[in-house]
Amino acid sequence: MSYIYKIHHLPTSDPTFLAFLAGKFSSLRLTALSVSAAAFSSTFAIESAFTASQWIGRLQRPGVHTFIAVAYSPNTKPEQQTIDAGDWVGSATLLGPTPKAVYDLPKSGGPEIGRDDVESKWQMCAVYNSPEHRGKGIAKLLINGAIEYAAKEAGVGRQSRVRIIIHQDNILVKKLYDGLGFVDAGHSTLSEAFLANGDSALLPADGGASQPEKYHARLPLIMWKVSSFDGLR
Ligand SMILES: CC(C)(COP(=O)(O)OP(=O)(O)OC[C@H]1O[C@@H](n2cnc3c(N)ncnc32)[C@H](O)[C@@H]1OP(=O)(O)O)[C@@H](O)C(=O)NCCC(=O)NCCS
Repeated sequence: MSYIYKIHHLPTSDPTFLAFLAGKFSSLRLTALSVSAAAFSSTFAIESAFTASQWIGRLQRPGVHTFIAVAYSPNTKPEQQTIDAGDWVGSATLLGPTPKAVYDLPKSGGPEIGRDDVESKWQMCAVYNSPEHRGKGIAKLLINGAIEYAAKEAGVGRQSRVRIIIHQDNILVKKLYDGLGFVDAGHSTLSEAFLANGDSALLPADGGASQPEKYHARLPLIMWKVSSFDGLR
C-alpha cells in the first residue's frame, strides 16, 4: 500500500493534547526500543517502566523538540493530515539550542566550532523509522525537518549546526547522513555521547570510570551539518 507521509513538530503547549500525544509517542518509542534495540543506548526495560507523567515530562523538557513521521492513507485530504490522525511510524529528537561552552567537545579532534552569535548549536538523536516503512525516504524527511527547524530558529544571517553521534561501525546510518550533507567531525566517547544526547541518566554513577574501555574510549563518530535559513528557502 502507498501512503502519504508528513513530518510534524510535536506541540507541547496544550496539556490535554500533550497527554494524548505522549501516549502515542510512548507506543512508538517502546516499539523502536524493541525492534531496533541495538541502535539505542536506552532500553525497553528502562522506558517501559515510565509512567504517563514521565512521558509527558520527557516531551516537555526545555530545549527538546520531537519530530514525528505520520503515515496517512492515500485518500486523506490535506486538512485531515494532522498529528493526531494517521499512523505514527517514525521520530527524531532535536536538542538545543545549546551554548558553545556546553556543546563543545574539545578533545574530539574535530574542527573548531563557531561562536554563539554566529551560529546556533543543536544535537539530533533517537532517529527511528518503522521497518515496514523503511527505504522510502522517511528518515531523510525527519532529519531535514529538524535541520530546517534549527535553521529557522537561528534566524536570517545566522547559521545552525546540527550534530549527531553514531556508532563507529554503523555503515548504513553513516551513509544516510553522508547523503544528507553531514560531514565527519571527529570522535566522542560514549560518556560524551550520552551527555550530548540528554541521556546522562543512563551513565553509571561513577560516570563510567570503572569501565573506561566502554565509556571513555574515543570511538563513536561525530558528524554535523551547518545550514543557514536563507539556503533552505
Ligand atoms: C536508519 C533508519 C532511520 C533509516 O530510515 P529510512 O526511512 O529507511 O531511511 P531513508 O529511506 O530515508 O533512507 C535514507 C538513506 O539511508 C540509507 N539507507 C536506508 N536504508 C538502507 C538500507 N537498508 N541499506 C542501505 N542504505 C540504506 C541510504 O543511504 C538512503 O539513501 P538513498 O535512498 O538515497 O540511497 C532506519 O533504518 C531505522 O530506524 N533503523 C533503526 C534505528 C537506527 O539505526 N537509527 C539511527 C540511530 S543514529
